[in-house]
Amino acid sequence: MQDPHVDPSLDLEEEILRLKKERNAVILAHYYQDSEVQDVADFIGDSLQLAQAAKKTQADVILFCGVHFMAETAKILNPDKVVLLPDLDAGCSLEAGCPPEKFRRWRAQHPDAVAISYINCSAEVKAASDIICTSSNAEKIVASVPKEKKILFAPDKNLGRYVMKKTGRDMLLWQGSCIVHETFSERKLLGIKTRHPDAKIIAHPECEDPLLAMADFIGSTSALLKYATESPANEFIVVTEAGIIHQMEKAAPGKTFIPAPPNANCNCNECPFMRLNTLEKLYVCMRDMSPRLEMPEALRAAAALPIERMLSLS
Ligand code: 13P
Ligand code: SF4
Repeated sequence: MQDPHVDPSLDLEEEILRLKKERNAVILAHYYQDSEVQDVADFIGDSLQLAQAAKKTQADVILFCGVHFMAETAKILNPDKVVLLPDLDAGCSLEAGCPPEKFRRWRAQHPDAVAISYINCSAEVKAASDIICTSSNAEKIVASVPKEKKILFAPDKNLGRYVMKKTGRDMLLWQGSCIVHETFSERKLLGIKTRHPDAKIIAHPECEDPLLAMADFIGSTSALLKYATESPANEFIVVTEAGIIHQMEKAAPGKTFIPAPPNANCNCNECPFMRLNTLEKLYVCMRDMSPRLEMPEALRAAAALPIERMLSLS
């Protein structure tokens, strides 16, 4: 969706905050949002923290600055609240790469297996799964499954492979990946490391194996932020979506954060879906109370079960 036409004389931050009060709304934002979007949010977090924040909010309206599956999760957990997403086209390559019908057929071929799905999937895939995980609790969720049980893990093959290594559990992996995390170049990362030998390489587990093998630390966005803040090192090469660097620089102003370079000369270390949410769209969304997340109650209730299982284990 194109940016809507908005009166250029408006102070958008001020307007958004005024409307937020008027509507008793809360603004939740993922670390991959533009910094100006992060700066108007009440809460910024990773996928798990955002689901937890959505579950416990007292607000009447949740304005979700993230991608579709995240806002959908907030709606699944809050059927009676209004959940807004500034751009409904803010999808995810992992979600798109796991069509529900194909997923259900895969499941049906392994009736005795436990199906663990990464939260980056549609409500329909969640509804057909036993338990959901995020990048910050995937190891814990996998380890909670009895040893004798076969596990299906979808849709991110890179996170799945990483968790297999960490837990020693064998899993059948859906062959999906994130278009942002698979774009990082091993060769260019080596080049940067050579120029910054003291920098710590920190990477998200959605990255491919050869990049993870070069990392000093691997974790979810919130874990990367915590590591960068608490580590005695002063320089970090950040191998994930570059939006996270905004909070890193705020939390550790004296340190240097270098975004890992993608393969081509592009800004493809920015998620094109996350970046669809602009301040203009946020304002219009809050003003018009649209677009909203809606779904049939039967689907919502079925998708809520595996999410609640995850939340009770987290
Ligand atoms: P986390 O929020 O769990 O770190 O995952 C990152 C991501 O790619 C979200 O789409
Ligand atoms: Fe999906 Fe990757 Fe964007 Fe996260 S960064 S929303 S996994 S496409």
